[in-house]
Order: sequence, then structure tokens, then C-alpha cells
Amino acid sequence: MADETHFGEQTVPLADKQGMVDDVFRSVARRYDLMNDMMSAGIHRAWKNAMVGAVNPPPKGRPGRLEKMSERPFAVLDVAGGTGDIAFKIAAAGGPGTRVTVCDINADMLAVGRERAYEHGLDNVGFEEGNAEDLPYADRSFDCLTIAFGIRNVPRIERALGEFYRVLKIGGRLLCLEFSSVDVPGFDKLYDLYSFQVIPRVGQAVTGDRDAYQYLVESIRKFPKPDAFKRMIEAAGFRRVSVTPMTGGIVALHSGWRL
Ligand SMILES: C[S@@+](CC[C@H](N)C(=O)[O-])C[C@H]1O[C@@H](n2cnc3c(N)ncnc32)[C@H](O)[C@@H]1O
Repeated sequence: MADETHFGEQTVPLADKQGMVDDVFRSVARRYDLMNDMMSAGIHRAWKNAMVGAVNPPPKGRPGRLEKMSERPFAVLDVAGGTGDIAFKIAAAGGPGTRVTVCDINADMLAVGRERAYEHGLDNVGFEEGNAEDLPYADRSFDCLTIAFGIRNVPRIERALGEFYRVLKIGGRLLCLEFSSVDVPGFDKLYDLYSFQVIPRVGQAVTGDRDAYQYLVESIRKFPKPDAFKRMIEAAGFRRVSVTPMTGGIVALHSGWRL
């Protein structure tokens, strides 16, 4: 039915999904970063670094092309940026002209992010509450938009992709990192075993919320295959869309340009 969607393996009314997703991240916010390291044995850092490499912010000590032309900062929007992992990496890689805005729907995830930014003394990263489906920014505001492990949680993915296109400047780039489909014989079985048998148990032990991590593994399986997601990005208007699978397809980095 048109007004139903998935919440992990469950079929739920479209209008209910966001609230259920919000409950998941409210519950795990304080332990979210620790769990990422434990579940992926730290590999999520390499996946995120690959995305930040693609963002390629103007480096320290050298004004970027855009800054030379117009004195404007290199503006990055990190949607569903949660506790700020991606934003901190981009800010660290970029020069003083790089500004990163984290936009997330969940106040608890943002609160952890703000504390981390304060601890690191970062003043070029901002945290704002907002919904990916209805971004609180003007048309053509950003040079780059990143979203890591966020898009599969958004109930209306097409609507969010339309918003990403709207807020990017002409020549701006979308980079989307998301869990994908393991397609390596043997490894897929191992990955399934680890996902369904180990992750929910570790989630229970570390965060006290098994269901949140059951949702995580189920939502990964429900997310569109890389080629289907590539077509969704193209349908939103993006050009030169490409997909780069990593670690046997556990994750994929999709890239597209607003031209
Ligand atoms: C798995 S976390 C990813 C956090 C961060 N990007 C990272 O890679 O560590 C997913 C995030 O998506 C956020 N989220 C879910 N639905 C959203 C929506 N509709 N708009 C904005 N953020 C959303 C959640 O609050 C959560 O912080």
C-alpha cells in the first residue's frame, strides 16, 4: 500500500516510521559512537574517511577555489549527521574557509555532537535540528551535502533526495554513504550470521536496547540495492551518478552532482 513502509522487517504506516526511528536513536545516543567501533571493529572510520576524501574540502593554509573567487566559505551540510563524526572529519581536513552544518532530526544525537565539538574546540561545525524530508535551508546554499548511514532511516527517501538537490548549489556534490548488499559467495553467509546473531546481542550488552540493533540489521536488508538507489538519485535530478562498493559491498558510497 502507498501509505505503508518498512521499519526493519515490520510493515508500518508511513506516518509512524519517523517516530519509531527517533525512539531508536534517542535510546542509543550516548553509546552510539562506542557501538559503531565495536560492531565494525573500527572499520566505519575507514568508510567515513573515504567519503571525506571525496568531499575534498579546501585544505588548511590554502584558500579554496571558491574562496578566491568570492570570499565565500566552502559550505558542507551533513544531513542525519547525529553525533558529528563526519562533520568533525571534514572540519579537520578542511582549511579555515570550511564550514560544516550538521542537520539531524534527533535532539539527543545532536546534544552528544555539540558536547564533542566543545571538547575538541571546534567552532566551524554547527548543529541544527531538521528533517531530511524538509530541510530548513534556502535553495542552493551548500557546496557539498553528505549523509552517512542516515538515508535508510528516512521514511520518504525520494522526498529527501529532492531536498538534497534543492539545497545544493549548481556544481555541488551529493555524497551518500550507506550499508549496501554483500554479494560475495561465502562472505554473505558469514555477514548474515554476524548481523543477526552477534550485533543485536552486543547492542543489548552495550546500550541495553536489543531492538534498536535488530532494527539496524533489518533496515540494512530492506534498503534498495546499489543500482536501484543510483536510479533514485538520478531521478531526483543528479548527474554523473556513481557508486563505489567497499568491504565486499557491506557499504557503498554513492556520488552525484547538481549540474
Ligand atoms: C545511524 S545514525 C548516523 C549518524 C552519523 N551520520 C554517523 O555516520 O555516525 C542515523 C541518524 O539519522 C538521523 N535521522 C533519522 N531520520 C532522519 C530525518 N528524517 N532527518 C534527519 N535525520 C534523521 C537519526 O536521528 C540519526 O542521528
